[in-house]
Amino acid sequence: MQTVESQVEQGALRMSGGREYGRLPRPSLKYTEEVARETAPLYEKVKHHIPEIEWPVHAPYVYAINKLKRQRNATILAHNYQTPEIYHCVADIAGDSLQLAMEATRVEADIIVQCGVHFMAETSKLLNPDKTILIPDLKAGCSLADSITGEDVRLLREANPGVPIVTYVNTSADVKAESDICCTSSNAVAVVESFGVDKVLLIPDEYLAQNVALQTDVKILTWKGHCEVHERFTADELLAYKDADPAIQIIAHPECPTEVTGVADFTGSTKGMIDFALGQKPGAKVLLVTECSMASNIQEQAPGVEFIKPCNLCPHMKRITLPKILDSLLEMKEEVIVDPQMAEKARRSVERMVNLKN
Ligand code: 13P
Ligand code: SF4
Repeated sequence: MQTVESQVEQGALRMSGGREYGRLPRPSLKYTEEVARETAPLYEKVKHHIPEIEWPVHAPYVYAINKLKRQRNATILAHNYQTPEIYHCVADIAGDSLQLAMEATRVEADIIVQCGVHFMAETSKLLNPDKTILIPDLKAGCSLADSITGEDVRLLREANPGVPIVTYVNTSADVKAESDICCTSSNAVAVVESFGVDKVLLIPDEYLAQNVALQTDVKILTWKGHCEVHERFTADELLAYKDADPAIQIIAHPECPTEVTGVADFTGSTKGMIDFALGQKPGAKVLLVTECSMASNIQEQAPGVEFIKPCNLCPHMKRITLPKILDSLLEMKEEVIVDPQMAEKARRSVERMVNLKN
């Protein structure tokens, strides 16, 4: 058997900060007996979502990625919206934006591969300036992050002197650098109230801001950014499900318009939604008003619950695939780099949030 060292090919892959990683040979992607045997326990977790006939296509990637993670000393952080083969078969840690940010502060590996969108990888970089952060597709963006720039925040501050600026974590480092603190959908109310003032800017998600405003006496000013996935849900489509079966539990993400959260039985972050769904009794029907992959990812943990998915796909999250994760680890791409001066300021906003005691 070859050792890891003897498999390293000539030349090094040079990264920012002068870090170098050896080149590794491209693994075989044959569905061998060994691959079938080693990946069989993982297939058990995704068998209701990936037909048996398709597994020989995914399994060699799963096997190769898990081996490469050990060779590179890498950790994969995956958002709850990643596809089941990523979420269950190659991720080391999966969660919502807050969990991923918290976990990023605890990772010991040299390399983090962020299976999610760009702002999540940037947040990991801010919290781990000395680690190599990779994202399998640099184009995995977010309509909320694209809705606002650092310059917009500077203008908002000029126009609203003395009003604290809370920025949703779904933003670029440039925007975070101009903010007082970040928040996620898990902690937005607590962050807004942490200032002890009567008026706060909560940007850029208009609907998250409106949903938070319903839960606090703090006056919320906001921006016109929207999540392209959650803004498409309507109250009428949800009420049609409720009319057909009044026992159905509707759970929604706070990036949905308030007319949608207004008909939901529970509104919360992706982690909050998962916790709510897993707390339901066997036989319950739960309608998940969010991105499609969530229901598939949690079905195994709640076999007795029937999940109904009037779901929308996030095209950005879906840019991350097993072949791209493999390339990412093999070729050490795409590295996420943040200008050090901007990173210093942006990190303060993220760290204030992470350190906030709820
Ligand atoms: P969560 O923090 O709830 O996981 O949300 C992130 C996101 O992008 C939802 O669209
Ligand atoms: Fe951005 Fe919406 Fe996609 Fe989340 S689901 S990454 S908020 S576009």
